[in-house]
Amino acid sequence: MFKDLKWTTLVAFVSLSCATSLMAQDAQRGEILYDDNNCMMCHGNNGQGVPSENGPRIGGQHDWYILTSLNNFKAKVRSNPAMYPYIKSLSEQDFKDLAAYVTNLTGMEE
Ligand code: HEC
Repeated sequence: MFKDLKWTTLVAFVSLSCATSLMAQDAQRGEILYDDNNCMMCHGNNGQGVPSENGPRIGGQHDWYILTSLNNFKAKVRSNPAMYPYIKSLSEQDFKDLAAYVTNLTGMEE
């Protein structure tokens, strides 16, 4: 019986660690996503914004706000026809990783 209990604890622990790592934000992955999905085209390399593309400054913004915005754009709760094609096929995890990266950008001109 004692043996069973140990196993249960181990299984619980392993599944918990997996769940945590899946939910974690990965800023390094976010950087790759930022490059691959042309975010810099409208928001700049430092998230400083690109006025000619009407892209606002996003660097240094709170991660939770970035995540909310991305989810709202994808769900079309908030309208953003210019950006929609670039994010429509990204996942919630992609958004979390992007938020983790963008929140650490300076938002300053180069
Ligand atoms: C074609 C241009 C374009 C591209 C590419 C683009 N965006 Fe945007 N983005 C915009 C525009 C325009 C807005 C402002 C929308 C509005 O008026 O509400 C915006 C708004 C945002 C906002 C909300 C800013 C705020 O203060 O509410 C975030 C966050 C954001 N973009 C992140 C990204 C990320 C991350 C990517 C890459 C996956 C990306 N954008 C790619 C044009 C773009």
